[in-house]
Amino acid sequence: MKIAIGCDHGGLEHKNAIAEHLKARGFEVTDLGIYEQVSVDYPDIAVKVCNKITNGEAQLGILICGTGIGMSIAANKVKGIRAAACSEHFSAKYTRLHNNSNVLCLGGRVIGVGTALELVDLFVDTEFEGGRHENRVNKIMNIEK
Ligand code: RB5
Repeated sequence: MKIAIGCDHGGLEHKNAIAEHLKARGFEVTDLGIYEQVSVDYPDIAVKVCNKITNGEAQLGILICGTGIGMSIAANKVKGIRAAACSEHFSAKYTRLHNNSNVLCLGGRVIGVGTALELVDLFVDTEFEGGRHENRVNKIMNIEK
């Protein structure tokens, strides 16, 4: 599976740790920055990561900003993206199972790196359950039309 990842200045340490962790697990990771501690506008990074998913170059995305919220708001404006800001395990798992989310957003100022790695593992290891959730997700996607 290919995973695209990006962060703003609120999530650089987390992003680097997550990218290394996923590579060590055998995933193909596309790191879209930032690469050093500079201040950037998180929507620019969100769009770069989401475009990788919508053009088929990645299946899942991970975005980290200070809270995870700005990234999720921006990502959800991109057609085809279902982004979830999560800070605990249950949500990271169920947003894959029930929402078929394709982008996980994390807050570098909300959770530590250890928790972030666990949430990432849950997110990438959980498959969409389908069934009754399929129709609900389709209704969400129809809102875009
Ligand atoms: C940047 O300071 C901060 O606003 C950003 O990282 C994020 O938390 C926005 O939601």
